[in-house]
Amino acid sequence: MAKLISSLELPLSPRPANKSLTDWLYAELRCAILDGRLKRGVRLPSTRDFALQHCVSRGIAMLVMEQLRDEGYLTSKTGAGTWVNERLPDDLLTVCARMPAKPEKAPAFLSTTTRAIRPFQSSDPDVTLFPIDIWSRLNSRHWRRATKALLGGGDSAGYAPLRNAIAEYLGTSRGVQCQASQVIVVTGTQQALDLVARLFIRPGESAWIEDPGYFAAAWALRNAGANIVPVPVDADGMDVKRGMQLAPRAKLAYVTPAHQAPLGVTMSLERRIALLRWAQSAKSIIVEDDYDSEFRFSGVPIPALQGLDKTGSVIFIGSFNKVLFPSLRLGYIIVPEQLMDKVLRMKYQMDLWANSINQAVLTDFIVDGHLGRHLRRMRETYAERRCALQDAAEKYVGDSLQLSGMHAGLATPAFYRAPVASREFEREAADQGIDATSLERYSVSKRRIRGVLLGFAAFESREINHGMQKLAAVVEKFERNTKH
Ligand SMILES: Cc1ncc(COP(=O)(O)O)c(C=O)c1O
Repeated sequence: MAKLISSLELPLSPRPANKSLTDWLYAELRCAILDGRLKRGVRLPSTRDFALQHCVSRGIAMLVMEQLRDEGYLTSKTGAGTWVNERLPDDLLTVCARMPAKPEKAPAFLSTTTRAIRPFQSSDPDVTLFPIDIWSRLNSRHWRRATKALLGGGDSAGYAPLRNAIAEYLGTSRGVQCQASQVIVVTGTQQALDLVARLFIRPGESAWIEDPGYFAAAWALRNAGANIVPVPVDADGMDVKRGMQLAPRAKLAYVTPAHQAPLGVTMSLERRIALLRWAQSAKSIIVEDDYDSEFRFSGVPIPALQGLDKTGSVIFIGSFNKVLFPSLRLGYIIVPEQLMDKVLRMKYQMDLWANSINQAVLTDFIVDGHLGRHLRRMRETYAERRCALQDAAEKYVGDSLQLSGMHAGLATPAFYRAPVASREFEREAADQGIDATSLERYSVSKRRIRGVLLGFAAFESREINHGMQKLAAVVEKFERNTKH
């Protein structure tokens, strides 16, 4: 079935002075077919539309199309139109001067759309459980009633009703102290980190980062020229005293207090207070990344560090990309009042504003109670899957694999005994069809860690069991090798 392109305009090179209109149009169309800009099977506009688009007479357009048809480039049928032939004469494929160079293949990690999701991929939520019907209903409602304001632009701080909804949601569920006027809607954590790093770090200035810690936070800080200071993490979270010894005058500290990425520990109250005191005296900024605290399975939700901040030292960052679906690309920054203008100006300079229609749909999703319902459902599902992972590990691997940090999130660290580098472990697991992300990827100081990150959220218990049997074979292989 031919695809319609009749409304699309094909850009053509300007006509050289020494070429007739007919020769020029013929050469341009033939080249567009050969270099693939006009794809095989694509239907062309009518000669009338085509003539109008390219400011030639209809007679010339008909002449050129006839010529190309006679040469085997086009086919036409009365009443059905004209389209590019599915098969072009092979020898003609090599003669076009404008044949593009073979496009460079982008590294696979830059696109996740064709990636197979297999156990135990660590960062994925289960998108198959997202209530698509509700979202598309809300989406259609907004498109049907799309106002000029909604289509015509946006607000750099974010869609006002969404800012209200976020402030209310965070106050209730995360103990964040903020007004809607302190909320800036961004495309997600990564943009928030980039923005904050650009604003608060000058090249060569120091920034603390948890070690092991979120590598993408390190990317943003490095891009801004920061001198990255890895600060060790223990069972109480980032070791603030150590940070003060290493770089007392650091400009910024990046932390994940509710559920440390990747180890999963919770920052103790004592450490939180120590961190706030340090930031106040050093006049530094604390960047609190609250990336997946919605998914806490046991105990009371841990209130945000931001809620303890009395001096405006904390910038709080959160994201809907894991909570709803990763391609949504919407998140938020909660900014202390005195920094709001500065942060907002930077957001404007970076990309003006986030997609307004998606923000309006998200607002309804929150305000109509769908977010709360979805979170409850996902929390229950993920809690079951977390138990399935724990049970499968006990059944198939036993003491050889210790899971920890299982009280929240979508993934858990797993530590093995065999003295093998975790990159090697990761590679062997991949060969067996399993994702086991090396924890060394998170090691800012490049320290050796005998552990991997296992995601459980996106997999049913059957897949978890099957995956764990494969993982058991990997563990066994390395244990066997070390005995010999
Ligand atoms: C520590 C941490 N923060 C934030 C995010 C989410 O970032 P974004 O909102 O840019 O998708 C992730 C995703 O894996 C993460 O691991």
